[in-house]
Amino acid sequence: MTGATPYYITTPIYYVNDAPHIGHAYTTIACDVLARFMRLDGRRVKFLTGTDEHGQKVAKSARDAGIDPQEFCDRVAQNFRDMTKLMNISNDDFIRTTEERHIRASQAIWQELVKRGEIYLGRFAGWYSVRDEAFYEENELATGPDGVKRAPSGAEVEWVEEENYFFRLSAWQDRLLAFYDANPDFVAPKSRRNEVVSFVRSGLRDLSVSRTSFSWGIPVPGDPKHVMYVWLDALTNYLTAAGYPDVESEEYSTFWPADLHMVGKDILRFHAVYWPAFLMAAGLTPPRRVFAHGWWTVEGEKMSKSLGNFIPPAKLVDEYGVDAVRYFVLRELPFGSDGDFSHHAVVSRINSDLANDLGNLAQRVLSMINKNCAAAVPEPGALTAADEMLLAATRALLPRLRADFAEQSFHRGLEAIWEIVADANRYVDEQAPWALAKTDRARMATALYVLAEIIRQIGILVQPVVPAAAARLLDQLAIPENARDFAALAGAPLKAAVALPKPQGIFPRYIVEGAAEKAGKGG
Ligand code: MSP
Repeated sequence: MTGATPYYITTPIYYVNDAPHIGHAYTTIACDVLARFMRLDGRRVKFLTGTDEHGQKVAKSARDAGIDPQEFCDRVAQNFRDMTKLMNISNDDFIRTTEERHIRASQAIWQELVKRGEIYLGRFAGWYSVRDEAFYEENELATGPDGVKRAPSGAEVEWVEEENYFFRLSAWQDRLLAFYDANPDFVAPKSRRNEVVSFVRSGLRDLSVSRTSFSWGIPVPGDPKHVMYVWLDALTNYLTAAGYPDVESEEYSTFWPADLHMVGKDILRFHAVYWPAFLMAAGLTPPRRVFAHGWWTVEGEKMSKSLGNFIPPAKLVDEYGVDAVRYFVLRELPFGSDGDFSHHAVVSRINSDLANDLGNLAQRVLSMINKNCAAAVPEPGALTAADEMLLAATRALLPRLRADFAEQSFHRGLEAIWEIVADANRYVDEQAPWALAKTDRARMATALYVLAEIIRQIGILVQPVVPAAAARLLDQLAIPENARDFAALAGAPLKAAVALPKPQGIFPRYIVEGAAEKAGKGG
């Protein structure tokens, strides 16, 4: 693999009308794990997240709060920035769509689309959902028993008639289908790809890309009574952060097209249909991949403020610790599927996988070394077949993780690591170094050395998912900061005789004590 291959990954930019919750944290954590993984693997990473601040929905929230929209955005965007800090997110940039650089980029892509004849002025009459910031066809709507028309998302729609600019989306149908054909991995997972293809096959209508009934948006160049449709504005954030419209810049030529837009399944259509169409129409290259992950419910129910099961990320971190939350959300479900966030499930993952399996392995081995090997890395003798086998299986993890993470298959990658953790725990039991301490100290030293080396490898590999705990683990093996990337896996193994600090547990057990109510419910 080439050393500094760039990798550009993005989260959706979150609407500032909502407070951050576990759903937002999920997408951001998944991206963070990939960003950290790629950096450790020697790639030059650009990891972008941020906030979506224009449009009718945000304007309405500001109005409800009785403050000026810009002031409202400044206040609420900070909550999302705080969430990234809280979740130990390593983003390289945080974009806000009210920033000057973004207004410039959005107006530039607009002008490019106009220049190429892709935008025309017309009159819109149709259904719009403010909550989804999306237009709907009559046949997509359902009328409830209350007589109210709703979008498939459950959001209410309203009839809108106004002068709008339109994007010639209909003209892009065949070219989009050809694009999906030529790029079979563009939309993942497969089932989502099929949905996208059949949506486009069923026919595309031109898309309204400006609004005149409110003003909280980016003015349309040359016709400022219109503001740009919030999704055209929002999607352009990915280009803005790469330096667009300065396509000659080093940043742009390095990072565009983006390698991965990570999104929830709710916003796939915008990313997999409208976005590549806008880009191709502006003469720009579409991103390499869009992954649509699944939806979390909480204790079996849809998250909502009214149900009171809306979990602020800070509450989870207080209760379980940031690494445990990161591990849980990626290990618990096949990435792409829907899942349920329950206190019980989190506790069981913490206590079994983290405390019992990995935590206990490290604790047992490091304490035995501390006690029986003068608190230094033991000197190994000749290796047995069992030693070699375990080491070889551990060394096989990196290529496996590369393949799993290239497909965003986090749970598989983690499963593979934890299989080795289980093998290593079995090896401890079989070798019984505590018994060897009395009968064969040389062999005891070798077995403990093999285990310490395996813990080093695992400690390096789990850094993307549980960065803080992994750092503590590697500290306990006295691994220098500059020997913690993936190149160090293939490099020299642990050096014998290096003094080790006093071991400390890395994953405490979660003690269940009337805590269920506290963590799972309420908000
Ligand atoms: N502003 C748009 C995105 C523009 S991107 C150019 C938007 N914002 S949002 O605040 O509504 O965020 C939606 C995203 O948050 C989802 O796509 C998903 O990534 C994440 N999630 C929100 N709730 C979620 C769950 N309950 N479960 C999983 N992810 C969820 O849409």
